[in-house]
Amino acid sequence: PASSFVKIVEVGPRDGLQNEQRPISPAIKAELINRLARAGMRNIEVGSFVSPKWVPQMAGTSEVLSLIEPVANASYSVLVPNQKGLDDVLNLLSRNSSPPPITEIAVFTSATDAFSKANTNATVAESLARLAPVVRVALDAGLRVRGYVSVIITCPYSGRVDPRRVREVARELLKMGCYEVSLGDTTGAGTPASVRAVLEEVTKDISVSQLAGHFHDTNGTALANIKTALDFGLRAFDASVGGLGGCPYSPGATGNVATEDVVYALMGEDSYGDVGEPYSDSPVVQGPAWDVGPVSLPLLADTGSWISSVLTRETTSRAGKALLAR
Ligand code: HMG
Ligand code: MG
Repeated sequence: PASSFVKIVEVGPRDGLQNEQRPISPAIKAELINRLARAGMRNIEVGSFVSPKWVPQMAGTSEVLSLIEPVANASYSVLVPNQKGLDDVLNLLSRNSSPPPITEIAVFTSATDAFSKANTNATVAESLARLAPVVRVALDAGLRVRGYVSVIITCPYSGRVDPRRVREVARELLKMGCYEVSLGDTTGAGTPASVRAVLEEVTKDISVSQLAGHFHDTNGTALANIKTALDFGLRAFDASVGGLGGCPYSPGATGNVATEDVVYALMGEDSYGDVGEPYSDSPVVQGPAWDVGPVSLPLLADTGSWISSVLTRETTSRAGKALLAR
């Protein structure tokens, strides 16, 4: 039988915050990470070691790492674009006193040259060539490596993307040694039909166990896209608490699907925790819920609402709002 476990990778502290114009202090970022871990998130992408000229908001990641209160069984990862980023991570890890709890890095490229150029100043081929030795060194250092392919549906610079390109690039990342490739609908243009078309192509020669879905929710289709990918057999999805975020090089795109919404949709009724047995004498049969790990939806909703208020806005999570209004 297909496994009922679904891994949710919380990318709010990185994807969610990287696009914020006003500087956010390392203390706030670390509090976000620590709250997410206490809420039960077991895979958290906590920041990136990219050029501060390209993404100023991520400049303080090493300070953020020093403020993390590691939680047992939680995996913390950082995004790395090149050897310099990895060197920075390895330097921190080799410190004698309190090395950061990083066990994983993520590398990223794209399905189109235009997006890759805009995001990393390199074509796809150049970026793959740049990443291969980075992945090797990271694996040798005992880190796990995750890969991202951006713009799997539509590229903001070159339009509709050929699913065959997505498959080729994902295969290259796996060949390098990534244990999983996260397929990024960077612009959030995807629909169940277009996501299905990409997955049909990509799974021709890649196992669903090596794929994750990363859906931005620009058009409100992210949860439907996750359902489509679940039906395909994918069991790993990225999400951002409070629906935070966007990519600085994807104009107009909004944040990732909100983690609270994914948890609510997958866990079902029980996620409120205090509902009791609403259907005890009703004929309604509840379907089995997915296992999303030790997540507390109320704590997650608090976290989404807290970070949104820090950023002086409202959470975009529907489930978070609904729960807090109860
Ligand atoms: P470049 O300008 O070609 O690189 O950028 P460079 O090697 O010429 O370096 C330029 C300057 O940056 C130099 O400083 C370097 O030292 C410095 P200077 O000598 O001028 O003072 N530098 C660095 N500093 C800190 N850490 C580093 C680093 N590397 C160079 N690692 C580069 C090429 C790849 C560095 C740049 O384009 C870059 O950092 N890009 C990152 C862009 C980014 O972070 N985008 C967002 C993340 S991806 C995303 O959001 C998509 C995703 O969510 C999935 C999806 O939704 O699709 C993952
Ligand atoms: Mg993203």
